[in-house]
Amino acid sequence: MQNNSPPLRVSIIGFGAVGQGVATLLQDLPHVEVVAVADSRGVALTPNLGTLLSRKRAGRPIANSDLTALEVIRTIEHDIVVEVTPTNIENGEPGLTHMREAIKNRRSIVTSNKGPLVVAFHELVQLARENDVALRYEATVGGAMPIINLVRETLAGNRILDIMGVLNGTCNYILTRMAEEALDYDQVLSEAQDMGIAEADPTYDVMGIDTASKVVILANSFFDKNVTYADVAVTGIDRITPDALRLAHQRGFAIKLIGEVQELTVSPKMIPIGHPLNVGGTLNAASILTDHAGEITVAGKGAGSIETASAIVSDILSIQKERC
Ligand code: HSE
Repeated sequence: MQNNSPPLRVSIIGFGAVGQGVATLLQDLPHVEVVAVADSRGVALTPNLGTLLSRKRAGRPIANSDLTALEVIRTIEHDIVVEVTPTNIENGEPGLTHMREAIKNRRSIVTSNKGPLVVAFHELVQLARENDVALRYEATVGGAMPIINLVRETLAGNRILDIMGVLNGTCNYILTRMAEEALDYDQVLSEAQDMGIAEADPTYDVMGIDTASKVVILANSFFDKNVTYADVAVTGIDRITPDALRLAHQRGFAIKLIGEVQELTVSPKMIPIGHPLNVGGTLNAASILTDHAGEITVAGKGAGSIETASAIVSDILSIQKERC
């Protein structure tokens, strides 16, 4: 079937691991035109994505204009802002200003950035509604593991009673490696950083802050709550020792960092070894408890450049379909 509609025009704001993953996937996508890419140093207008990715990987500047990211959002005509700057849960910036401006300028948002949604979830949802634009954020929770759109669309015939799960790939990787090879916490954390799955500030991962952010997003999305990070009781994995993991294993348990959405808690919990939430490595897993369908458990890659980018591209394609 031929698609005669004009191409969907997209900007990519943020050109770290996720932004580069999005650019890589959009190279092969017909009917999507990237009008601008912004990194922390500047803006490339009408970029050739292949050339831009090579420049970025070589550590060279990508800018070919004097515009700022905010000026792109305000002044360059386009349909979707892909906001993939790093998460900041203190005040959501710079992502929150990018998102407010995008919506006010009638551009839809697709994002993996948890910060603005943790700080101002209902404000952004309301603003998007008033301006008749989409706000899609599948990539904020569980990376490539389907959860937001799964619950909102596929499970729409159910009431969601609870969601709990392993929602941070870095912690899960650290706990898995520590359990399997009796390695020290610091040694495995630096491996997770080398793999590019840890947050820009890895204390967000190991102190449970990243998992709590995902709990907040799920609670606000599906449980009629209006909560922020301060409402979640959080314990990280920084005090877990290889000995504790070994002892748990001897008793038939694994220790996992579990986010519990109804309870608004994040803490290390003993999970029976045969339980579906006992996933290894960088995987995430979530159990969704529903009234009619019972318990649905999903698992998948919770982090990574291309994996997370695939969730962003799914959201872009959903907006494209809604437009047709
Ligand atoms: N640092 C996060 C993780 C990235 O390890 O899960 C995905 O949100």
